[in-house]
Amino acid sequence: MKTRVLGIETSCDETAVAVVEEGRLLRSNVIASQLEMHARYGGIVPEVASRQHVLAMTPTVYRALDQAGVTLGQVDAVAVTHGPGLAGALLVGLNAAKALAFTLNVPLVGVNHLEGHIYASWLLDEAPDSKPGFPLLCLIASGGHTDLLLMADHGRYHLLGRTRDDAAGEAFDKAARVLGLGFPGGPYIQRVAVGATGAEWLPRAWMKETHDFSFSGLKTALLHRAQVLGLYPGPLEGPERETLVRELAWAFQESVADVMVTKTLRAAREHGAKGIVMGGGVIANARLRELILERSDLPVVAPPPVLCTDNGAMIAACAAFQLKRGQVHTLSLDVEPGARIG
Ligand code: KG4
Ligand code: ZN
Repeated sequence: MKTRVLGIETSCDETAVAVVEEGRLLRSNVIASQLEMHARYGGIVPEVASRQHVLAMTPTVYRALDQAGVTLGQVDAVAVTHGPGLAGALLVGLNAAKALAFTLNVPLVGVNHLEGHIYASWLLDEAPDSKPGFPLLCLIASGGHTDLLLMADHGRYHLLGRTRDDAAGEAFDKAARVLGLGFPGGPYIQRVAVGATGAEWLPRAWMKETHDFSFSGLKTALLHRAQVLGLYPGPLEGPERETLVRELAWAFQESVADVMVTKTLRAAREHGAKGIVMGGGVIANARLRELILERSDLPVVAPPPVLCTDNGAMIAACAAFQLKRGQVHTLSLDVEPGARIG
C-alpha cells in the first residue's frame, strides 16, 4: 500500500494543502494565496495572515482531497510546517493538523519549512538522492532565509553559510518598493528587467572566503542610485522613468544572481558535492536559474516555480522521509517560529 501524506503549510501568507504519495508522487497541490490582501499594505501583516488562514483552512483541505480523489479516511499521515515562520500563522496550520491526526488516528509529522523547500525537489521525476546522489549542496533562498547547506543524507544537514542581514527575497521586495513596483517584489523585478540594456551596474558583496551572504549594501546602493536618478521618491515620470526602472531592476537582479550562483558553486566545489539542489521563492527567478545552469559543471536540481514558492506538497514530501525514519510527533508539538536547520 502507498503511504499517502496530507501536507499543510501556513507559515506565511499561503494556506496550502497537498496530497503526496510515497513522498514523491504529487496527487494534488492547492494554494490559497492571500497576496491581494497583503499587497495593499506593501508587505505581510501577521494578524491578517492568521485570520485568513482560519478562513481558508477547511475549504483548502477539502479541495486538496477532492483534487487527489481521496477521502479523509485514506490519509495515512498528516504533515505540517511547525517553523520557521509567523507564530500566529503557524498555529493555525498546526492546530488543524493536530485535529486531523487525532480524529483520523494517524501520525502527526512536524516539518521544518526550510527542509520542506529542499524536498520540493523530490517531487521531480528523478529523486536527487538517486541522481546525482549525496552529498548535495542546497541553496535555500526565500523571503526570510538565504542558507547554504551540505546535505549528507536524508535529514542530515551541515550549515555552511547564511545571510548576515536581509534574505534574498526580502532584498527583492525592498528593491521593488524603491522602484515603485508591486509586492512581492521578485516577480515584478524579473518582469521589468526583461529587455533592459545593461546600462546600470550595482555592487556585489562577496563576504571574503566565507559562505555567508549580505544584501543590505546592495539595497543601499540601489536606493542611492534611485535617489540620484530622481526615481525615489520622485519626481521622474513617464517613459524616461520606465527605462531607468528597467535598468536598475536588471542591475539588481544581476547582482543577486551573480553572488548566489558564484558562492553556491564555490561551496559545492569546496565540499565535494555531487550536485546542487535549490528551493525557496527566489529560486523561481528565471535569470538565477539560467545563470547557474550556464556556469555549473555539476547537475543542478530546481523545482518548477510553483514548487519553489510556499506549498503543502514540499511539506508532505519531506514528512514521508521523516516517517521512514520514525520521526513523528505527539499532539503536544508546538510552533517554532525561529527554527533553523543545520
Ligand atoms: O519561499 P517563499 O514563497 O516564502 C518564504 O518562505 O519566505 O518566498 C517568497 C519570496 C518573496 O520575497 C518573493 O519576492 C520571492 O520569494 N520571489 C522571487 C520570485 N518569485 C518569488 N524572487 C525573485 N524572482 C522571482 N521570480
Ligand atoms: Zn518558504
